[in-house]
Amino acid sequence: MTTTPTTPTTPVGPGLPTTPTPPIFELAVVLNGEPRAASVDPRMLLVEALREGFGLTGPKIGCATGDCGACTVRLDGRVVKSCLELVQSAAGSEITTIEGMAEGDRLTPVQQAFCDRYGFQCGFCLSGMLFAAEDLLARTADPSDEEIRDAIRGNLCRCTGYQNIVEAIREAAVTRRCATTGGV
Ligand code: FES
Ligand code: FES
Repeated sequence: MTTTPTTPTTPVGPGLPTTPTPPIFELAVVLNGEPRAASVDPRMLLVEALREGFGLTGPKIGCATGDCGACTVRLDGRVVKSCLELVQSAAGSEITTIEGMAEGDRLTPVQQAFCDRYGFQCGFCLSGMLFAAEDLLARTADPSDEEIRDAIRGNLCRCTGYQNIVEAIREAAVTRRCATTGGV
């Protein structure tokens, strides 16, 4: 007679160890302009809380060591890698993710230029590239290619070979300057 293998189950009962329940932290932030709160594990990285607690999948987890830039967000006005921030230190802060970057339905000049110039393919690096570009153009209206390459240095793209990204940022700079000066 043959017997059907059964899936082992965790024994439960009086006196047996129980699986510890992870602690809960109420993370309240202003997220993409809206007050939001989520119950998360206090040991989480901010990028994990954004993805798992708030359901925002724009920030990606590439390396979790601060090397690739895929998790980039704006935190209280600073462009940061959210894998290097703990949820508890982000409490009460103002966070913008790539989902909140556009002005309503209108893409920013940087976002539009990335679309027009094929500045991304899979999009995994897009958060980091866009925030780095926005940050650069806020400081430098007419950056050289060297300054553009320097600004995106902390972001890794495995798809485009970077040239299209540099061209997109250069084009966005022109669009922003024209918007400011009326094309004069
Ligand atoms: S996942 Fe944060 S820098 Fe790579
Ligand atoms: S577009 Fe794929 S990693 Fe940059």
